[in-house]
Amino acid sequence: MKRALALALALGVRDAAAEPRQVAHWLRYVAVDYPGAVRQGQVIQQEEFDEQLALLDRSLQELRAAGDREVLYKRVQELRALVEARGPEAEVGARARGLADALLLGEGLVVPAGVSLERGKAIFARACASCHGEDGSGDTALGRTLRPRPADLQDPVLAEQRSPLGVALAVEWGIPGTAMVPRSDLSPGERWDVAFHVLSLGREGAKRPAGGPDLSLQELAWMSNQELRGLVLAVGAPRAEAERWMDGYRLALPGGAASAASQGRWALREARLLAPWDRAASAAAVGRALTATASLRREGGALPGALAALTPQASAEQLAEVELALLRASQPRQAHPDLERWWLLPPALLMLLWLLRWWRR
Ligand code: HEC
Repeated sequence: MKRALALALALGVRDAAAEPRQVAHWLRYVAVDYPGAVRQGQVIQQEEFDEQLALLDRSLQELRAAGDREVLYKRVQELRALVEARGPEAEVGARARGLADALLLGEGLVVPAGVSLERGKAIFARACASCHGEDGSGDTALGRTLRPRPADLQDPVLAEQRSPLGVALAVEWGIPGTAMVPRSDLSPGERWDVAFHVLSLGREGAKRPAGGPDLSLQELAWMSNQELRGLVLAVGAPRAEAERWMDGYRLALPGGAASAASQGRWALREARLLAPWDRAASAAAVGRALTATASLRREGGALPGALAALTPQASAEQLAEVELALLRASQPRQAHPDLERWWLLPPALLMLLWLLRWWRR
């Protein structure tokens, strides 16, 4: 167990106010790191495993103090039991993330327009690279002296579970008992810049990143790589193209306002996450989805049918189906012009030369 955290728990030290964002951060941390602690029912990293249980205990303490979150409290208890029983990685991850998201929805975490990967890279070099290295691998002189070592931000297993939101929260709250301390010197906007940059690590050299329906910044911020890949495959990306689409989503961020379809999807996602514990809030979110997609319902095609069948009492599965229908009906995202079209140039020039010669004959 990480020492400071162990101490805090032993002494019963608690922060003054229950902070939903902080609890959500711990739950997300469990979601990301559990596969590094338990694999196929076996503890492979005892320290990590103990830390996860401690974070869940601490979350329960906070939720109990908050008082008004009984259903959530019970679900976190169930999650703790599942972790203690060394349950399946996928299930722990999905449950922990679902709980965290439900907590975060009430927090109004809106990603500001104009998030910049370029700024994020500069912030990373200044504020993170001393430990994590410019490439995120964590192999630095300072990093080697730390226990635990800085996370390898390129590790493919951990990267699957990572999202810009998760990184932004890690930067805001730090990771208890490690050298990764909260960074109140960075503004919320800077935290988003650097978080999106972290998700682009290891992809920078990608050729022709592009493809896929347009997703809003907000959607991209909340989705882990795993979720994003699942969605890319669900809308029918050929397997060979899926990674190229992923590169596109992480390297070329959308600039403009969110489309009607994407606003609708976002509201449906809220409805789906809230459905298990707050029917009224979930129903209100369905209402917002219907308002946001009013223009789409007037057009023809399969989508209006799916939307018309939507009711405030829809189950999580039904909501997910309509989300997918909205995604399928979305405009393809605007490819990054420099990255997408340059390869057309050489064949186009060759064609022109060939035509010129043909005319001269
Ligand atoms: C003083 C060294 C140090 C600095 C500076 C630092 N980190 Fe960390 N970071 C760590 C350590 C150590 C861990 C590992 C914690 C663990 O193993 O539980 C970590 C973990 C993380 C994680 C969690 C990895 C995961 O599992 O998802 C993220 C994300 C992260 N750091 C991002 C950043 C970003 C972004 C910055 C700059 C704003 C930064 N770090 C600055 C030391 C540092």
